[in-house]
Amino acid sequence: MRLILSILVLVTALSAGGGTWAADGAQIFVELKCGMCHKPDKKAAAISLAEIVQTYSDKAKLVKFFEGQMKPLIESEKWGMMLGQLEKIKTLPDQDKEALAGYILSFR
Ligand code: HEC
Repeated sequence: MRLILSILVLVTALSAGGGTWAADGAQIFVELKCGMCHKPDKKAAAISLAEIVQTYSDKAKLVKFFEGQMKPLIESEKWGMMLGQLEKIKTLPDQDKEALAGYILSFR
């Protein structure tokens, strides 16, 4: 009886999450080493996440940028440093791009 109950609780908890395993944007950010250049709120090798979200207000736009369908919005002579990164981001599955965008937008 206890076992059945705990299985029930587990199933309920899983379906409450929408039934899918959400991709973790923070983890993708770490795995792709974006943080080497982009720090949360201070300029490092590149602009901070806080600065990025000042330009990117919505997730759809950021995802479009990650898909390589949009020119960069922030002017920079250092843009070349980001190009190789964008190639990596482009190969991510859609839900990972969304999660990554969501994570960056959480620094608003
Ligand atoms: C080697 C350093 C480096 C790494 C690593 C890096 N970036 Fe960048 N990124 C830059 C630079 C340089 C710019 C241009 C702005 C600037 O001068 O700071 C930029 C710009 C951006 C922008 C703004 C685009 C626009 O419209 O102008 C976004 C968004 C971004 N990076 C996301 C990421 C994400 C996500 C990752 C991890 C996959 C990442 N970056 C990894 C250096 C880097």
